[in-house]
Amino acid sequence: GKGNYRHFMEKELHEHPVVLGDTLTQYLDPMTRSVTLPPLPFDPAVVPRMTITACGSAFLAGQVGRYWIEQLARIPVDADVASEFRYREPPLPAGGAALLVSQSGETADTMAALHLLQRHGQKVVAVVNVPESSMAREADGAVLTVAGPEIGVASTKAFTAQLAVLACLAIGFGRARGTISVDDEAKLTAALLELPANAALVLERDEEIRAMAAEVAKARDVLFLGRGTLFPIAMEGALKLKEISYIHAEGYAAGEMKHGPIALIDSAVPVISLCPSGPMFEKTASNLQEAAARGGRIMAFTDDLGASRLRAFAERVVVLPRVGAFAAPILHTIPVQLLAYHVAVLKGTDVDQPRNLAKSVTVE
Ligand code: F6R
Repeated sequence: GKGNYRHFMEKELHEHPVVLGDTLTQYLDPMTRSVTLPPLPFDPAVVPRMTITACGSAFLAGQVGRYWIEQLARIPVDADVASEFRYREPPLPAGGAALLVSQSGETADTMAALHLLQRHGQKVVAVVNVPESSMAREADGAVLTVAGPEIGVASTKAFTAQLAVLACLAIGFGRARGTISVDDEAKLTAALLELPANAALVLERDEEIRAMAAEVAKARDVLFLGRGTLFPIAMEGALKLKEISYIHAEGYAAGEMKHGPIALIDSAVPVISLCPSGPMFEKTASNLQEAAARGGRIMAFTDDLGASRLRAFAERVVVLPRVGAFAAPILHTIPVQLLAYHVAVLKGTDVDQPRNLAKSVTVE
């Protein structure tokens, strides 16, 4: 049941700390701060190229996975939604491997991509939440997310669990290829293992996020901006808002805004930015300042180091724990999902069963 929560989605949002802990400790050892991956059907040390494909939110997790695997393991990765991948006749290399990402393990387009990949000699690993699903059974290997059953149609905890698994895979691949050191592995592992506690701190920002939601609920259009691994999370924020509150939203790469979407900006468009401190902070902050100068209403998620710079022009700044660049996309998922939840509640939509959507899309 829902326990004391109003909706399954709210309950599942509050399960983030537990689900992250359960998933991460499957693959990370807190004592040795190292990764142990389950047996894989390919050797990450020599794989020439990887494909990541999935649908919806699961694809956005895959896009973050692509950034991580390229950065840490230096493996070229192609990422595309399954409904495109399966028809675009991609050239696939001998000895190549693929990752599928899916909560249900039953999504029709992702299943079709699985079969196409196998026909072209790729070794396919499913990152999947349902161990007895078609995808888990038919793929050459499976790495499980430990999110438990997800009832709300909009994916929440399963998405962060997918990110957690992809983060572990990226570290493991990096070690296998020697592109990261034992010391790097220990630091990245430590940052991930702090996520359950940091996720709980984000959930304590609920009241501030609800106040932000009251503003966002009045908008017709909303823009989400992020850079690097926060770009797919900006798209996740936009997807979740569209899907449960029916407000039009777009997720954009912060640096791409001046190439078009800045034309949309006026005082009616909230610009929600994922902007943690770090090497890219100043670039994103100046993109936001440009939007503010055009009357845009900037609302930012950042950390203690980023807050004062953003407060100079932002209407709202929510300060999250500082977790480092690697863990940041996982942490920042929680407030954007929570924001969508509160907007939907304020609008009175059917949060757990949004119109026109099914939990598992088993038709093309
Ligand atoms: C968004 C959402 C969908 C699913 C997509 C894939 O909140 O839930 O976009 O992520 O339909 O489903 P799975 O992960 O079951 O393959």
